[in-house]
Amino acid sequence: MKIAIGNDHTAIEMKQEIQKFLEEQGYEVLNLGTDEAVSCDYPIYGEKVGRAVVDGQADLGIAICGTGVGISLAANKVKGVRACVCSEPYTAKLSRMHNDSNVLAFGARVIGVEMAKMITQTWLDASFEGGRHQRRVDMIMDIENK
Ligand code: RB5
Repeated sequence: MKIAIGNDHTAIEMKQEIQKFLEEQGYEVLNLGTDEAVSCDYPIYGEKVGRAVVDGQADLGIAICGTGVGISLAANKVKGVRACVCSEPYTAKLSRMHNDSNVLAFGARVIGVEMAKMITQTWLDASFEGGRHQRRVDMIMDIENK
């Protein structure tokens, strides 16, 4: 499985730790984030991660900025993206099971690396339940066509 990962300047170390964590488990990682410790604009990286997922360059995406909010908002502007900001594993798990999230976002200024790893693992281990949740996800995606 291939995972696109993107980040702004606030999340370089967090991104590197998560990339290592994923690669150690055999995931292929497409690094679309910055590795330069200079202030940059998170929408660039949210869009990159979102497009990589929607275009099929990656199966799933992870987006990290200071809070996870800005970069997830940007990713969610890409048609087909369902990005969720998660600061704990329960929301991450349910975002896969019920919302079929395809981009996980979190904040490098909000959570620590170990929590980020646990959230990432939980998110990757969960899968979409379909059924009644499919109808609701379809309703969300229909909003993009209005
Ligand atoms: C950068 O200062 C910060 O605004 C950004 O990383 C993110 O938290 C935005 O939502």
